[in-house]
Amino acid sequence: AEAKLWGGRFAQKTAASVEDYTQSVSFDKTLYREDIEGSKAHALMLAEQGVLTAQEAQTLVKGLDTVLKEIESGKFEWKKEMEDLHMNIESRLTEIVGAVGGKLHTGRSRNDQVALDFRLYVVRSLEEWKTALEKLIFVFTEKAEANREVLLPGYTHLQPAQPVSLAHHMLAYAWMFKRDHSRVCDCIKRANVCPLGAAALAGTTYPLKPASSAEKLGMDDTFRNSLDAVSDRDFVLEAIFTGSLVMTHLSRICEELIIWANPCFGFIKLPDAFSTGSSIMPQKKNPDVCELMRGKTGRVFGDLMSLLTTVKGLPLAYNRDMQEDKEPFFDAHKTVYASVSIMGDMMEAMGFNAENMEKALKKGFLNATELADYLVGKGIPFREAHHITGAAVAYAEKAAKGLEDMTLAELKSFSEKIEEDVFEVLSYEAAVRRRVSPGGTGPESVKSQISELKSWLK
Ligand code: ARG
Repeated sequence: AEAKLWGGRFAQKTAASVEDYTQSVSFDKTLYREDIEGSKAHALMLAEQGVLTAQEAQTLVKGLDTVLKEIESGKFEWKKEMEDLHMNIESRLTEIVGAVGGKLHTGRSRNDQVALDFRLYVVRSLEEWKTALEKLIFVFTEKAEANREVLLPGYTHLQPAQPVSLAHHMLAYAWMFKRDHSRVCDCIKRANVCPLGAAALAGTTYPLKPASSAEKLGMDDTFRNSLDAVSDRDFVLEAIFTGSLVMTHLSRICEELIIWANPCFGFIKLPDAFSTGSSIMPQKKNPDVCELMRGKTGRVFGDLMSLLTTVKGLPLAYNRDMQEDKEPFFDAHKTVYASVSIMGDMMEAMGFNAENMEKALKKGFLNATELADYLVGKGIPFREAHHITGAAVAYAEKAAKGLEDMTLAELKSFSEKIEEDVFEVLSYEAAVRRRVSPGGTGPESVKSQISELKSWLK
């Protein structure tokens, strides 16, 4: 086995089982770009500060570029006995540039190095979420605009409640995703802070300039406390939490789409490209994409729980437990990004069945509130109007018809105040049109929601 970079005080070789157990290179090699960028910034900063000569820094930068090329062309040989990506890259660099390679780590520790790599990686991942969320919000806004005239039952307790427009329903999700987007932006602000210069835990005796490293890396700020800089994993935790919330929102739509795709509802036609069949039942078209998205929500929650639990008992500063921070985030990133993107594509292709939605409006007395409000308009106190309407509903239910199908005489038997003009009020279309309160399902509100989202998207 090759000599460890930290092997000076060791007389015996690491046990093979321990090498396997402690290595992280099998997964942290994902961070190679960030690691090399960070090392280049560090080398240049060291030269600016007179810790290295300009010549030495140039040699290191060129050597690091060579390593980068080797990795990207698949030529680089990752060695697990080198433990992690940092030491793999540094030892290859030293093979290429010779002894000066050993100067790169001056004033640096893997503790600030790994924190930097991971912060850069999280920021980049969050930028991808941001773009995917923007596309998703766009698709939901477009679908809303195209379906302003389509009405469907709004539910509470999954029981028919009041009619709403499909546009209003789509827009509800657009607003959730817009808040998710702003949470992602917020996470980026706190993640994009450079920990280089904290060294192992206490700072360093070399005249480092963290602000210069940060600037070279395009990061917005530097750490204030070296102990915090190497121990903080808040930035990953809040990213996974934000991802968990994104998944929660997606999972709720998925649940609705699964219900809507059931023939008893028949509200949507799942695009063929986003559904799957059964190996035994020829008629089946299953909403597997939605089910998997709902299911994968659980794994992102698991990623969050896993890292919260890892961090909760750790004393300052760095502890090796923290190496367990990467896989949960990689998994969450892959899942969140794919889910947001696929939901955007699937929703774009989604077919809505307006006729079945309208038919469903007729089941469940969704215009009962309209009748009660009508009676209030005729001077009856709301509680009494509620009671009268309840009696009319019970009657209509027995007669197996809607309130709007009752004759005026039948309606009048519940209140003398009811006149011919009641039928206008009982129409489902009117129920939506008359919902003029701000943020309601009425057309004015829907129109202004769409234009607000559209101008935000621009
Ligand atoms: N592979 C380690 C990690 O991912 C890098 C830092 C190791 N530092 C140390 N002192 N062992 O956290």
